[in-house]
Amino acid sequence: MQKIVIQGEHSLSGTITISGAKNSAVALIPAAILCDEESTIYSVPNISDRDALIKIIEKLNGQVIIHEDSLSINSQNIKNVFIPEELSSKLRASYYFMGALLGKNKYVEIALPGGCKIGNRKIDFHLKGFKALGATIIEEDNKYIIKADKLIGNKIYFDFASVGATINVMLAAVKAEGTTIINNAAKEPEIVNVATFLNNMGAKIRGAGTSKITIEGVKYLHKAMIEVIPDRIEAGTYIIMGALLGKDLRIKNVIKEHLTSLLSKLQEIGVKIEARENDLIINKGENLLPLNITTLIYPGFPTDLAQPMTVLMTQCEGVSILEETIYTNRMGQIPYLNSMGADIKVENQIAQIKGKTPLFGNDVVASDLRAGASLIIAGLIAKGTTQISDIEHILRGYEHIVEKLTNVGANIQIIEE
Ligand code: EPU
Repeated sequence: MQKIVIQGEHSLSGTITISGAKNSAVALIPAAILCDEESTIYSVPNISDRDALIKIIEKLNGQVIIHEDSLSINSQNIKNVFIPEELSSKLRASYYFMGALLGKNKYVEIALPGGCKIGNRKIDFHLKGFKALGATIIEEDNKYIIKADKLIGNKIYFDFASVGATINVMLAAVKAEGTTIINNAAKEPEIVNVATFLNNMGAKIRGAGTSKITIEGVKYLHKAMIEVIPDRIEAGTYIIMGALLGKDLRIKNVIKEHLTSLLSKLQEIGVKIEARENDLIINKGENLLPLNITTLIYPGFPTDLAQPMTVLMTQCEGVSILEETIYTNRMGQIPYLNSMGADIKVENQIAQIKGKTPLFGNDVVASDLRAGASLIIAGLIAKGTTQISDIEHILRGYEHIVEKLTNVGANIQIIEE
């Protein structure tokens, strides 16, 4: 079993380069199978979610070539093969093969998706969207069979602007007959990235990034390429580390506009952030003020950065409040932060964090991806040694995290036990 071991209290200086966005890449890879020729995706992060998706494409008889930082995917001979649980449960995004295979072959048989256990993660909006396009859904023995004689464009409204459902319906609709309109679509930058990739192949998608997306079906999708956008959540995680430990820490390859909510909050509480073209330079903030955060859909404060923010809040002078509104169980890091010396109470997904409290190293468990990232931040600021287990959650989403942190002065390593 692998663990991450951190000796805390080392300041961070130098440069961290941000990788391609996990949540874009995990949708772009399944999207590639819609292509009728070969497609290439650049800046794909080398994370275990990438490898799990490649295995699924290979199972479906597609060919994937892994280059230095890109993937070439040939999906001309994709077959309707059942995607079993040992592949689908490795990650949440395996559900994008529902939309992609339905769009391509009008048939998909797939076991339930996996992913972080951060609440009741239903996929009813995805299924509602597929049905609206004319698909029949059979749910049996922990698997879905989704099929259609033909897919016909329709108007779809989501009760909640779901990222996954928006992308999945887009994937199913690009080759449907006629026009599909998604109302109350999610607006996250990752959706724009996926729509751009499909449009590069010849799809006709308008409005991605707004709450109304219009998709005019096309028959053929040709050779195309796309670059994965920089990971705003990975960047945010390192920016928070910079606010706690940075000495001119440079975060390279960021789209600042994707991080407005985080950067504004940090500046409000006294963190000094200097913006240069595609880079940010962060210095440790002194006498940080407490703050209130409510997680919201984009461009509101991202739920994925709320967990890392709880660590920063332990170092603010006074009471900070975090209200998590997207998921029903996204506080997995809190008991471990308390075991390290934090003073946090949680009720109904509202955390009340009393600061400033020193943190002390301890043995802790990464219960999910962002909880794991939070514990790394906690370990970096804590006195003494922190040992994190269940780190496979962290390695699913952060490319070379140990190397990136070591390069800027952290004392962090992976050990085998
Ligand atoms: N929801 C439903 N029904 C649905 C779909 C969603 O009730 O059919 C609910 C969910 O239960 C949840 C809320 O709507 O309470 C938001 O879900 P959404 O569909 O927007 O999230 P997702 O697509 O499952 C993606 C990211 C998450 C990120 C969210 C919100 C991927 C693979 N995952 O999840 O990323 O938190 O959008 O931005 O893209 C992470 O990276 O740590 C992570 C969890």
